[in-house]
Amino acid sequence: MKEFNWDRTWETGHPLIDSQHKQLMEAINALLQAIYQNAGKDEVKNTLDFLNDYTIKHFFDEERLQKKYNYPDIENHKQYHQAFKKTVRDMIVELINRGITDELAEKVQSSIGDWLVNHIKIQDFKLVAHIKSQDPEALVK
Ligand SMILES: [Fe+2]
Repeated sequence: MKEFNWDRTWETGHPLIDSQHKQLMEAINALLQAIYQNAGKDEVKNTLDFLNDYTIKHFFDEERLQKKYNYPDIENHKQYHQAFKKTVRDMIVELINRGITDELAEKVQSSIGDWLVNHIKIQDFKLVAHIKSQDPEALVK
């Protein structure tokens, strides 16, 4: 099982964004653990529901910052968020209909975990560079 242990190269420097990304990675690891430890469908559903809720909260907060700092790429970035939220929602439906499958586990790793790491390293780094250019103090912890 692949785990998404926090890596310093994922740190954008923005305190709120980084702390929420850490929480998200922990939620993904909890989901993977529930799957691989055969914790059962209910427990996997609980961890997936938590990931769903926390994703919505995090993206909301990130989009609020984008508005606050007039981020020029906001529409694109929002579309990435929409797509990811749909991936998580579809996964809940898949879990309910088909149960825990190898395919589901594979999707958590690639379409959730790898996707998020990639999104952080490209899109969120771009966003934080913009915030920093507008307000360097925003990055001070
Ligand atoms: Fe983002």
